[in-house]
Amino acid sequence: MRLDDFRHRKGKEKIIMLTAYDYQIAKILDEEAIDMILVGDSLGMVFQGRQGTKGVTMRDMIYHTRAVARGVKETPIIADMPYKSDSTVEGALRNARRLISAGAQGVKVEGDKSEVIDALIKNGIPVMGHIGLLPQTATAYRVKGKSPEEAKKILDDALHLDEMGVFSMVLESMPEILAKEITETISAPTIGIGAGKYCDGQVLVINDMLGMDPTFSPKYLKRYADVNQTIKKAVREFRQEVMEGRYPDGEHSYR
Ligand code: KIV
Repeated sequence: MRLDDFRHRKGKEKIIMLTAYDYQIAKILDEEAIDMILVGDSLGMVFQGRQGTKGVTMRDMIYHTRAVARGVKETPIIADMPYKSDSTVEGALRNARRLISAGAQGVKVEGDKSEVIDALIKNGIPVMGHIGLLPQTATAYRVKGKSPEEAKKILDDALHLDEMGVFSMVLESMPEILAKEITETISAPTIGIGAGKYCDGQVLVINDMLGMDPTFSPKYLKRYADVNQTIKKAVREFRQEVMEGRYPDGEHSYR
């Protein structure tokens, strides 16, 4: 599927996106026909144990994009442009091409970086926008667009990115009424995270929706599994069985 085709889904069928950072999860998402896989720089937190996304490098993004691409047959892959990889037009073009060579079909750029986004699109690189809470530059993780001034700025950014031709746009952490207005105003599909039900699609960080970290519980997050407990239970059972000499048994030994 070409990424521009997602524009035709707007208002018709919701778009489902999840993050992936490795081969096995990517393979599962591909088998489940998820619409898009995002190799998000959220890997800085959930994969590398950092406090935020700032420390994620191009090298990290290329490594994880390659791993994800090996697991995927059909699903379009979007790779995040990490912090400062898009601070100049030339650098952004070079780095975006590296992510495309690693297996991404498009890149996600945080914020209204007009010159960069314009240059990427004009050079044939599909861009997903990202407005609202911008983790790469945020000083605090909080809901954006609650004041009329902030809401207007976010709406203006959305209009601007839409005019430049992004193929879709992540709306992160904003009141659902603002996300509704943006969704109804622009032609690119909106993909929400913490932005309510009116967006054209939804994205979650895979580790969060699987319940890997019980201490991470923002209001928007719904856990669809409790993988933390599943892993702990399996680890405990393994330890117990080895201690008691029950593993490996005959069934799991070579003769
Ligand atoms: O890095 C990421 O995973 C993201 C999503 C939260 C949209 O940007």
